[in-house]
Amino acid sequence: MKTAAELLTGVNPPSFALPLRIPPTLRPVARTDDYDLYQTIMRPTAVTIVPGLSTPVYSFDGEFPGPTIVASRGRPIVVERVNALGVPVATHLHGGHVPADSDGHPKDPIQPGGRRRYYYPNDQLAAPLWYHDHAMMVEAENVYRGLAGFYKLTSSNEDKLPLPAGRYDVPLLLRDAQIADDGTLVWDLGGFSQRNLFLVNGRHRPYFQVAARKYRLRFVNVSVSRAFGLQLGDGGEMIQIASDGGLLPRPAPTSMITVWPAERAEAVVDFSRYPVGTSVVLQNGAAFPGEEPAVMRFDVVRKATDDSEVPSSLRPVPVFGTPTVERTFVMTFDPATGQMLINGKTFDMDRVDISPTRGTTEVWTIVNPADQVIPIPHVFHAHLEQFRVLDRNGNPPDASEQGLKDTVRVLPGETVRILIRFTRFTGRYLYHCHMLEHSHLGMMGQMEIVAPA
Ligand code: C2O
Ligand code: CU
Ligand code: CU
Repeated sequence: MKTAAELLTGVNPPSFALPLRIPPTLRPVARTDDYDLYQTIMRPTAVTIVPGLSTPVYSFDGEFPGPTIVASRGRPIVVERVNALGVPVATHLHGGHVPADSDGHPKDPIQPGGRRRYYYPNDQLAAPLWYHDHAMMVEAENVYRGLAGFYKLTSSNEDKLPLPAGRYDVPLLLRDAQIADDGTLVWDLGGFSQRNLFLVNGRHRPYFQVAARKYRLRFVNVSVSRAFGLQLGDGGEMIQIASDGGLLPRPAPTSMITVWPAERAEAVVDFSRYPVGTSVVLQNGAAFPGEEPAVMRFDVVRKATDDSEVPSSLRPVPVFGTPTVERTFVMTFDPATGQMLINGKTFDMDRVDISPTRGTTEVWTIVNPADQVIPIPHVFHAHLEQFRVLDRNGNPPDASEQGLKDTVRVLPGETVRILIRFTRFTGRYLYHCHMLEHSHLGMMGQMEIVAPA
């Protein structure tokens, strides 16, 4: 029998051949009293993902992944996005608390040659958000081809904490890919087991030269359907400090940080425990059998002063009201039709599935039934509001899930309950599985938030 590696058809380049790139920060083109204005063009470009090959990708402003947008709580921004690609796009701010017409709903695509302005109020708590494509039936491919970027929402409260900052605060956008001998990306809906390359900020298994001190690493899983269970090669400690919606109530020391597609996790790692001149590999403990687990390598190359610290408490979780509505979402695969369903239904853009009332709190029970013919992990994501995980299989969530979340794994046989509160905006938003191959196959629903009667 052939091993998974032998079955691969794509290139299989050596690890740690390219340095890590940090995506540049986007600069505003104008500032008004009310907002900062950004402009960005989605266009094709070619980049080096593996050494010696040029790979055509979709980019924001020629960047793969897109440039980082740094926003601060309380200061709105407007992003004008121009579509110079040959496909429709709809850019969504994942985890963002935004008006419905700025949510990048697939009903509001930007056609090739078109442009659209998105308004982001930044009225939520500081969080590691990200932006990505959401166009109907092409989002999985568009994200795979490069339409994703980091959106760092900061706040003055968070900036006061003595956490590692500046060049010691690093976004790490993780994903997989498959590349053919000619350098082109191989896109195959359902071909997830063939995606043998691990990309960090757009480069295959890079190395990163670090100082012997603490770093704040912001992991963002931008994969179509790959899970990462991040572990240091020596089993060394990482201190998780934040999840999707920002800082945890308190730091959570761990040897493994798990991020399913679209999840974020921030960790403080202290490289001062490694002698200068040594290296430590970050591995994916969730790699498929036979796969190379390495994700990237940290090379400790110099000493540095370090007055950063991880405070013993970080940010209290906001109080949600008493829930008045309960709903259940059952996520299944129908082998007869090949469709992925929520409550037995496939996505219909013309159907509103639920209508929560603004100003209310709801409990949602998300079920991945145990009796499925093919057990498949799912990742439930709701647009618009950050939620809290109440329990997982009846047990309180572990430390990593005690902060605000917008995306939550629901593994085969699991039941997860969340508390979600509708605070400000009305209109039409999505909820869906963030395994983008599943949302593509119909695992998506619509909510229309309505004003109280
Ligand atoms: Cu990452 Cu519908 O979203
Ligand atoms: Cu989203
Ligand atoms: Cu799914």
